[in-house]
Amino acid sequence: MKNKNVSMAVIRRLPKYYRYLSELLDNDIKRISSKELSKLTDFTASQIRQDLNNFGGFGQQGYGYNVEDLQNELGKILGLDKKYRSILIGAGNLGQAIANYRGFSDSGFEILGIFDKSPKAIGMELRDVKVKDTKELADFIKENDIEIGIICTPKEGSQETTDLLVESGITGIWNFAPADLKVPDNVTVENVHLNESLFTLSYLLKGSN
Ligand code: NAI
Repeated sequence: MKNKNVSMAVIRRLPKYYRYLSELLDNDIKRISSKELSKLTDFTASQIRQDLNNFGGFGQQGYGYNVEDLQNELGKILGLDKKYRSILIGAGNLGQAIANYRGFSDSGFEILGIFDKSPKAIGMELRDVKVKDTKELADFIKENDIEIGIICTPKEGSQETTDLLVESGITGIWNFAPADLKVPDNVTVENVHLNESLFTLSYLLKGSN
């Protein structure tokens, strides 16, 4: 199902299709044309058809797409048909907000452990998970088959934390620290930097003034 020739631009559009299809399903809509999907997503109908053709198409001429089937297929393509075992490091303001958000576990991303190095944070409970000392990190990853590490520490120490996660067998890192983390080829880092999005907004506002 994973197609190595598909561009990142296409892959980054898939979650948006998935989100709209889920909303359509919630509203009991069973079928949709690429034209209607285009109105919802703001991508052109031909872009949508091209994107989906990378994975086999899924539509039928004159019928459009079966919403449930397409959502299922996209879920499989995105790997949302499985559960991911993750841990979070850095139980400060951001870490707590992420750990407390139910939506991630509802999508299959379970946070099984939370770690911090500060005695102020260790012992605190976030959605039934007790914050542990980072000294316990390596053993916890190995004992619990953890795949994803969510980094919510300050920039300082984020590479050190990454190295420890990688050495302990983690293959996916969701990084919120403002740092370009170095990892081996078998490890994937996905960065989330709200600032970059905010600065883009600032640029666009500036352009409209
Ligand atoms: P905070 O100061 O409230 O929390 C940081 C936590 O990390 C503290 O509990 C601290 O004890 C812990 N910590 C520090 N070094 C550690 C280490 N080596 N190992 C384990 N725990 C460690 O900070 P806040 O506001 O939660 O921000 C955390 C990080 O997220 C910062 O790097 C900040 O720049 C970043 N951030 C990123 C955003 C984004 O869009 N990517 C948005 C907001 C914050």
